[in-house]
Amino acid sequence: AESTRELLLSRIRDVADYPKPGVMFKDITPLLADPVAFTALTDALAELCVRHGATKIVGLEARGFILAAPVAVRAGLGFIPVRKAGKLPGATLGQAYELEYGTAEIEVHAEDLSADDRVMVIDDVLATGGTAGASLELIRRAGASVAGVSVLMELGFLAGREALAPHLRGAPLEALITV
Ligand code: PRP
Ligand code: MG
Repeated sequence: AESTRELLLSRIRDVADYPKPGVMFKDITPLLADPVAFTALTDALAELCVRHGATKIVGLEARGFILAAPVAVRAGLGFIPVRKAGKLPGATLGQAYELEYGTAEIEVHAEDLSADDRVMVIDDVLATGGTAGASLELIRRAGASVAGVSVLMELGFLAGREALAPHLRGAPLEALITV
């Protein structure tokens, strides 16, 4: 609803020149500190998981964990962490992706996903789409299917939606706010 969108937007703080000059950082910590706004966010994302038929929730380390864990509890679904490389103790699948300078890698426990799973990926922000795209490749390589990607905020000017499209293969990208 429009009122939810306005509430969420009002609790996101713009921080100029962070982490470097010329970048406007979107700080969600005021939203997390407001229980009414955090609950509204959790409910809105959980509703998207139900609407799109998700059976599991993947959260993307680190900020995605903060949103995805309460959404999983709210929706009554299991939570699967996708972590930055080297943090998971079991047998993992890894996927590299492009950063502004260089590459990064994310991993998931291979046993956490199977052909029976339909996975919703949750993160705070979609910027270039690199992180979310890599997570979708991991999910499919683990044999699961993709229910979609749901984020609090999409940075439209970075065209992450376009970059993500080939990884989504028709699955939905839902953004509660586009800036
Ligand atoms: C940020 C953000 C998203 C990602 C979006 O995470 O939380 O996960 O970047 O960027 P992209 O669409 O260009 O991939 P970051 O890796 O900075 O770290 P954090 O979540 O661990 O703080
Ligand atoms: Mg992140």
